[in-house]
Amino acid sequence: MLKEKFDLTGKIALVTGSTRGIGKAIGDALEEYGAKVIRHNTKVCDLSDPAAIEAFFAKLEAEGSLPDILVANASVQEKIPWTEFPMDEARREVQVNFLATLRMFQLCHPKMKAQKWGRLIVVGSVNERRPHPDMCVYAATKSAQENLVRGIARQVAAEGITVNNLCPGVFYTDRNKDCLADPVYGPKVTAAIPMHDYAMPEDAAGTALLLASDAGRYITGATIMIDGGLSIPG
Ligand SMILES: NC(=O)c1ccc[n+]([C@@H]2O[C@H](COP(=O)([O-])OP(=O)(O)OC[C@H]3O[C@@H](n4cnc5c(N)ncnc54)[C@H](OP(=O)(O)O)[C@@H]3O)[C@@H](O)[C@H]2O)c1
Repeated sequence: MLKEKFDLTGKIALVTGSTRGIGKAIGDALEEYGAKVIRHNTKVCDLSDPAAIEAFFAKLEAEGSLPDILVANASVQEKIPWTEFPMDEARREVQVNFLATLRMFQLCHPKMKAQKWGRLIVVGSVNERRPHPDMCVYAATKSAQENLVRGIARQVAAEGITVNNLCPGVFYTDRNKDCLADPVYGPKVTAAIPMHDYAMPEDAAGTALLLASDAGRYITGATIMIDGGLSIPG
């Protein structure tokens, strides 16, 4: 039965940044389909602090809660022209949006490999295809993450582990709800989207469930855009 392939009973999923926005919607979906979801935010483990990541994963290992499914969703971004972009902020974005993903997956991989089953889903961005002029650093960290996905996916495919990049377009979440509510800027944003509408966090949940479950077992190294057509060139 196809629906059984979506069942995540017995799986542990860590979804970073899952107390609100897209991460919450993904966490809710994985939970609805049976996974034990570890909810995470800055208070649980600030991903800008490498030592905090080590301590968080040591705790998960001690509790027997290392994830079978890792969704690297949390990210940071600042809108600042590249000419003035502070290097400390650039380093923070590289750490949270790229290095944290690499380190967390290194820490999950031995368990996934030993059990011949695992999932890494990174949350990218339409900025990989259309960099916002004032978010060049953020866009570059997401592109680095996409490249990492392809590099790692090939190497772990025979271990029963899939690695994919789920790419949102414009979603109505805390980070951009003020822009979308702006009477001048908001309509300009939606006019540029072929569907002429922005997404809600739940719009990412079905794709995440597919990639996390056995229903998506043959998908790896992929970038899946969830953007209403925004990344289509032309
Ligand atoms: N929204 C969009 O339109 C859009 C478009 C393209 C891509 N994306 C990507 O989709 C993902 C989710 O975006 P979102 O809009 O749903 O995010 P959001 O509403 O801003 O929520 C961010 C989540 O990440 C956590 N977080 C932020 N910085 C963190 C840190 N240093 N350490 C640990 N956790 C941290 C937050 O925790 P706290 O609650 O503690 O702050 C929160 O749970 C991100 O990777 C983003 O780049 C979003």
